[in-house]
Amino acid sequence: MDAQAEKKPVVLSGVQPSGFVTLGNYLGAFKNWKSLQDENDCIYMIANLHAITVRQDPAALKKNTLEGLALVLACGVDPEKSDIFIQSHNPHHAQLSWVLSCYAQFGELSRMTQFKDKSAKYADNINGGLFTYPVLMASDILLYQTDFVPVGIDQKQHVELARTIANRFNGIYSDVFTMPDCILPKQGAKIMSLTDPSKKMSKSDPNPKSYVAVLDDRNTIIKKFKSAMTDSGSGIYRAEDKLGISNLMTIYSAVTGKNDEEIVKEFQNFGYGDFKAAVGETVADTLAPIKARFDEIIADKAYLKEVYTKGNERAMKRSAKTLSKVYKKVGFGI
Ligand code: TRP
Repeated sequence: MDAQAEKKPVVLSGVQPSGFVTLGNYLGAFKNWKSLQDENDCIYMIANLHAITVRQDPAALKKNTLEGLALVLACGVDPEKSDIFIQSHNPHHAQLSWVLSCYAQFGELSRMTQFKDKSAKYADNINGGLFTYPVLMASDILLYQTDFVPVGIDQKQHVELARTIANRFNGIYSDVFTMPDCILPKQGAKIMSLTDPSKKMSKSDPNPKSYVAVLDDRNTIIKKFKSAMTDSGSGIYRAEDKLGISNLMTIYSAVTGKNDEEIVKEFQNFGYGDFKAAVGETVADTLAPIKARFDEIIADKAYLKEVYTKGNERAMKRSAKTLSKVYKKVGFGI
């Protein structure tokens, strides 16, 4: 059979080792990683190079990197099917990033909303890495000739920039890079805060009741949902003046796969309190096996090492091909 016909699309994504993952991150991106594995050739990485664009405690970064890996595995990513590795272990990312930074315009990087947000938030450390962060992300993607990038909506602009850079490079040197496309989650693209449903759910929110962490225990999850802010009035349906209920419906829908119509029907006789409790229970039931699996995996450091070592060997073999092509094209192939 024609080998080309059997080639599965390449999917690549990354997650920063930021301590913990919220329900929003899980539903917005992570949940897809597992389901993409069968139909695609998947590459997943823990983006620790990206993490140092904001100041990190070295011991915490190390711990969070391993925990990030364990969580990816606990969410159902299978190292037999997918390639999982730690970004800093493969030097090709930093190498390609330098080259591509010479093909990304200052104006383009200045327009990235994440850069604008982060430079406002970390005003005392607006470093070069924060600015060139999307170039490193473009390198992650383009090194593996990626077809699809599953990400949350907040990363869409970065994937578009990767396309712009790829296009420019291909235009100058002939086709070197595959043009990547985003895969955005159908539901749960935007999960809002439980205490203020006009804001995105975020782990940097000082109020821990505003978010659910994937590794929160059952009672904590249920309690957080019970204290979620709802709106005045009654009835479970989606409406512009019912941000709280709408957010809970989005969460319930993302977790169960049910659509709004089904949800409205299921909860037609429910008051807000009972609805909140029901959503809390369902989320807790969904996350419980992930936490149990995480606890097992994180205790097995030898297994984790085996996963990231093998994953990196495979990753480097693939990225070496692209990097060498790029080096030749630009005139480094001496
Ligand atoms: N920037 C992404 C985030 O913060 C993480 C990331 C790094 C990534 N490299 C990537 C995502 C490559 C997709 C593809 O969420």
